[in-house]
Amino acid sequence: MTPRAGTPVLSVRDLAVRYRGGDGALVDALADVSLDLVAGEMLGIFGPSGCGKTTLLMAAGLLETPTSGAVRFAGGPAVTPGDEAALRDFRRRHIGFVFQKPNLVPFLTAVENVALAMVIDGVAPAEAERRAMGLLAMLDIAHRAGNRPARLSGGEQQRVAVARALANDPMLILADEPTAALDSRRGRQVMELLLAIARQRGAAVAVVTHDPRSVGLFDRVIEMEDGRVVAERNGSGRAA
Ligand SMILES: Nc1ncnc2c1ncn2[C@@H]1O[C@H](COP(=O)(O)OP(=O)(O)OP(=O)(O)O)[C@@H](O)[C@H]1O
Ligand SMILES: [Mg+2]
Repeated sequence: MTPRAGTPVLSVRDLAVRYRGGDGALVDALADVSLDLVAGEMLGIFGPSGCGKTTLLMAAGLLETPTSGAVRFAGGPAVTPGDEAALRDFRRRHIGFVFQKPNLVPFLTAVENVALAMVIDGVAPAEAERRAMGLLAMLDIAHRAGNRPARLSGGEQQRVAVARALANDPMLILADEPTAALDSRRGRQVMELLLAIARQRGAAVAVVTHDPRSVGLFDRVIEMEDGRVVAERNGSGRAA
């Protein structure tokens, strides 16, 4: 199902994450962040190292329990806090993560890494593999499908990780510097693919990046500093 462009997908309210650092001092990794993402939209998240970008993605993607605040998804309360199995299920079905590090399963091949979530969701292995190959082809890496991560370059691993994030056709895609390990042509390709997924499948996409060249692709850009959103503006990307 393709959600209609403009339908709310994710709503984050007054989100705060406070860590206790190694020296015992408290760190406000995230403070008072509110954010809405709608179907078909691609948001860019910018800000200096340590400003809370990864923390925001983790909390918005239900991988990190916030100290306070709320994260809501379209279609009502999907999960009961504390119900880890339900959370895991929800994440696998509806959220695609691209982490700052690829985090591929080392003993599975590239295509198996991409197919895994589909198989867990009950897709027949042959069909999952067929779809996984299609995604790897979109990312220009089908020729490496039979290799395990250790045999792939950093950039190749990152492209497999992007394919994996798209595998279950998620309504929300959270990508943490997905192009950091890529050359500029491939980086552009990955960004354009994410935008196409937003536009064609109605996913909401949030991308952390340091790359100023990608600004033109975003519908909206936020800038973070010290755990807060300090600026928000329309990107030069076309609205959905
Ligand atoms: N598990 C943790 N325990 C303690 N402090 C943490 C933890 N994770 C992150 N922090 C701190 O929270 C702040 C925000 O970190 P975060 O990883 O979100 O930054 P970032 O914007 O993603 O940075 P980068 O661009 O370097 O990836 C930093 O000060 C970091 O040191
Ligand atoms: Mg980070």
